[in-house]
Amino acid sequence: MCGIYGYCGRGEALAPVLEGLSRLEYRGYDSAGVAFFDAQGEIKTLKTTGRVQNLIAMAAGQEDAGTAIAHTRWATHGGISVKNAHPHTAGRVTLVHNGIIENFRELRAELNYTPVSDTDTEIMAALIDSEYRNDPVQAILAAQKRLKGSYALAILFSDRPGCIFTVRRESPLALMQTETGCFLSSDPSTFPQCGEYYVPDEHTVAEIIPEGMRFFAGAAQKLELAATNRTQGREGHEHYMLKEILEEPETIRRTVNRYITADGRVDFSCDGVEDSLFDVKRINVVACGTAMHAGLVAAHYFRKIAGVEVTSFIASEFCDAGVRVEPDSLTIFVSQSGETADTLAALRSVKAQGGKVLAIINRQGTVMERECGHVLHTSCGPEIAVASTKAFTAQIAVLYLTAIRMAALRGLLDAAGEKAETAALCAAESIARETLKLRPAIIRMADEIHTAKDVFFLGRAVDYAIACEGALKLKEISYIHAESIAAGELKHGTISLIEPGVPSVCFLTQETTRSRVLLSVQEVLSRGGSVYLFTTGDMQGVEDVENLTVCRMPVEKGFSAVYAEAVCLQLLAYETAKRMGLPIDTPRNLAKSVTVA
Ligand code: M6R
Repeated sequence: MCGIYGYCGRGEALAPVLEGLSRLEYRGYDSAGVAFFDAQGEIKTLKTTGRVQNLIAMAAGQEDAGTAIAHTRWATHGGISVKNAHPHTAGRVTLVHNGIIENFRELRAELNYTPVSDTDTEIMAALIDSEYRNDPVQAILAAQKRLKGSYALAILFSDRPGCIFTVRRESPLALMQTETGCFLSSDPSTFPQCGEYYVPDEHTVAEIIPEGMRFFAGAAQKLELAATNRTQGREGHEHYMLKEILEEPETIRRTVNRYITADGRVDFSCDGVEDSLFDVKRINVVACGTAMHAGLVAAHYFRKIAGVEVTSFIASEFCDAGVRVEPDSLTIFVSQSGETADTLAALRSVKAQGGKVLAIINRQGTVMERECGHVLHTSCGPEIAVASTKAFTAQIAVLYLTAIRMAALRGLLDAAGEKAETAALCAAESIARETLKLRPAIIRMADEIHTAKDVFFLGRAVDYAIACEGALKLKEISYIHAESIAAGELKHGTISLIEPGVPSVCFLTQETTRSRVLLSVQEVLSRGGSVYLFTTGDMQGVEDVENLTVCRMPVEKGFSAVYAEAVCLQLLAYETAKRMGLPIDTPRNLAKSVTVA
């Protein structure tokens, strides 16, 4: 949460920095600010509440001398106001920050400092200023010894025009040298070009000048930004969310192809993940939000295909639940961003217990990737809309591949069986593509449900996992209260909320659950509720149910149907929020990367 961006180079800095900051806006969008050296060598600061667009308007006509740092905020400490927006200044130091300083109150008392803002950030400017004796690097190193918490900082010293200093602990930070100067960003995918970039090691101070960067008290890891991992624009689509849903056939294909050999076997060796990692009896899947729902879906695969027991955990509950990590277990962490604080905390706890770990991550060069060691990649490219879509289907695909590999290693699938499973997975691309054609029918559903106060999502077994994702997607962007219910659980309480006019969305893709799901549907209909049923093309018996709105998906019964269900639930949430005229890509109170625990 929060993003920092900066540039130090020849020519003006404000334009490229504000452009970069716009690409970083998915990390927070309640206020924004920029500080730069003007032509007289003085630091000027501009701040505003609201979107980066407001800051761009504010900065029009300003002249700078080629050095600027900027920030887009998701408030944690202190409300949404101009005074709490970054950059913050104390004495000779002006800085922007992504992270949380845990001991900011103690530091305020120690320095006897009266802050202007309510943030945890401002005290760092005062602390660095108090340590500053004409040597910025020494001042930052000394200040770091007194800081507790996480930070990526970009710092200007008023007597050092044409220079930016950076340092990080836990929070992400990347640096890139271009022909005209150096960029810094919380997310390398927002750099203006592809190619080499650097991630400084924790606590390493970087000095950035137009000609390059120097590292002090540590080093930096060199990485490569590929074209597919650079943030593109909306490419003519009204919203990133729609663009990302439409990309799903391609992102599923890229993700799956990375790990399937020419003879149809699963092979993770391109990512250095060896088979010995899967020599376990139990799997834990740990993640948050949509990624956690991918884990819920995959639990069904692992049990059915690989005969292995699986527990899915909400990452924020994992540590508090005091889970004991068994030596014969593998814990899989799933994350689009690779920087979700709760998932990282759970990873650290499992590693501390000596447990085997594997991460499934979308973004490149993340903290989680470095800390986990064993990583499989979803090849989706940047996902910008706050609502996760293409990452979800790709996560499910990688988890499925993992289940296939385990089944083969345990002798439950022979070569022909493995080939048949991977072939079924390859078909997910065309399932997603065909499902996109249901959009007009889904728009009609959205027309009906957009006025609802509550919507219930029902399913059994793997379809319940999908229902959980359906409810999350709808509520996060439409602000309609949505709740997922295991269909069989309905009669144990929630059915009391069903009355005429209350809509439910139901998923049915497994023959084994058909009669019981249809019974639940009947129970809802009998109480005047309306039901929209997403089911497979070959599911029998649904037309016999009166007053049921049926949407047949272009897929047959079985596990492959989840790709169709995912696309349907995403389109339903999208079209509903669109009908309501809401800011779909940037829903209120949310940010894409949740870096606070
Ligand atoms: O980056 P991660 O996959 O770790 O993020 C996990 C959740 O924060 C994320 O899936 C969130 O629930 C999405 N906004 C859901 O659309």
